[in-house]
Amino acid sequence: MNKPTSATDCQPFSTEIPISNEQLASLVNSEQGQISPLIYQDEAIYQLELERLFGRSWLFLAHETQLPDSGDFFSTYMGEDPILVVRQADGSVAAFLNQCRHRGMKLCRADSGNAKAFTCSYHGWSYDIGGNLAQVPFEERAYGKVDPAEWSPLKVPRIAHYKGLIFGCFDEEVPDLETYLGDMKWYIDLFLDRAEGGTEVVGGMHKWVIPCNWKFAAEQFASDMYHAPVSHASPLIASMPPDMDLSQVGWPEEGRQFSAPEGHGTGFFFDTPEFLFPMLGEEAANYYVNTSAAEAIERLGDMRGRRMNGAHMTIFPTLSFLPGINTLRVWHPRGPNEIEVWAWTLVDKKAPDSVKEAYRKAVLRTFSSGGMLEQDDGENWTQIQKVLRGHQARNTTFNVQMGLGNDTHDFPDLPGKTNYVYGEMAARGLYNRWLEMMTAKDWSELAVASTGEESDHA
Ligand code: FES
Ligand SMILES: [Fe+2]
Repeated sequence: MNKPTSATDCQPFSTEIPISNEQLASLVNSEQGQISPLIYQDEAIYQLELERLFGRSWLFLAHETQLPDSGDFFSTYMGEDPILVVRQADGSVAAFLNQCRHRGMKLCRADSGNAKAFTCSYHGWSYDIGGNLAQVPFEERAYGKVDPAEWSPLKVPRIAHYKGLIFGCFDEEVPDLETYLGDMKWYIDLFLDRAEGGTEVVGGMHKWVIPCNWKFAAEQFASDMYHAPVSHASPLIASMPPDMDLSQVGWPEEGRQFSAPEGHGTGFFFDTPEFLFPMLGEEAANYYVNTSAAEAIERLGDMRGRRMNGAHMTIFPTLSFLPGINTLRVWHPRGPNEIEVWAWTLVDKKAPDSVKEAYRKAVLRTFSSGGMLEQDDGENWTQIQKVLRGHQARNTTFNVQMGLGNDTHDFPDLPGKTNYVYGEMAARGLYNRWLEMMTAKDWSELAVASTGEESDHA
């Protein structure tokens, strides 16, 4: 019998994709606020995104409270790669490709659960909860020996945690998670750190498909408050009390947006908590605006504890939040023309059960697969994607120029680079980072870019 051999590295096919850095740079001009729609539509660009962007970024895997016990697992994706995230006996978290090393069958087809091992349903190779090959049927007679060090699923080499969120990265050279998050940490604490004990996932997960490119969703949550008064007008009017004089209802004008050199972004209004009441209902809104405010102010200060409202946020590339509404979602890419949205409701762990239930229902009504406001966003992105099927349409430049020249680093009480809330600074920042990640050789170039205020690619 021939001796089994060691695993050899496959050569990635994507190195053959004929797109030069010069061609990529011609598609995004952050300095002038111009974008080619090809970045939303082209298959070759998408394949390069899977390698260079999703293969090198910190990506959200799961919330800690989804995996309380040893053997608890959650089945997710990093880009289009299926991933098993598993709590280990020592309390740590392991993540590995959900792919059998024999012939590539998906190891586990359940969304989540608790396992002592993962056994492939094709020929029965079996792996422990750390993702190590443990048993091979008829191993001695059929193979002699199959070395687990060589033939276990590909591990996610970097795992890190930030305030309840678990992230993974396939690139060993990625900077640590807190460096990657940069000043965005200060802003996401508005969602993750308002109360002692942090947050927990409430209710189940919602999944739905939108036929649009992932960047429309990521960009909007990073940057776009501008769409809200138009796109969300009808559900907001419908949620007002019937006796309200709508002529007296105006849209807020005061607020800021923030853009991180790492591609993250957020926008928010100042001092407009009243908007949460018609959207969330009395119990959830009252908890956020009143009951929990004193602790939030004590932990985070007046700006984050009380004044910043209606915030939207994206951690580059595909993790987005709405603090206050309390939805967290990942825009999993599914080709250039489709995303799967995976959305959770997060509530302070210490909140009363009735508030958690009120939040679960409020998110169902507003931002979920059936939510009134969610429909507005998805409809826009779907229609744009349809338009881009046209040859002329996908070669006609988009305008991303709002607020150009108005960036500042010294807005009171806000870290980093900010601009007026109705602006596109954070969109330009996201696309600039997209270009850097798509063209950089490795993280030594990207880490340098993220420490500077502006990049050479702009
Ligand atoms: S494909 Fe998994 S055991 Fe054969
Ligand atoms: Fe929206």
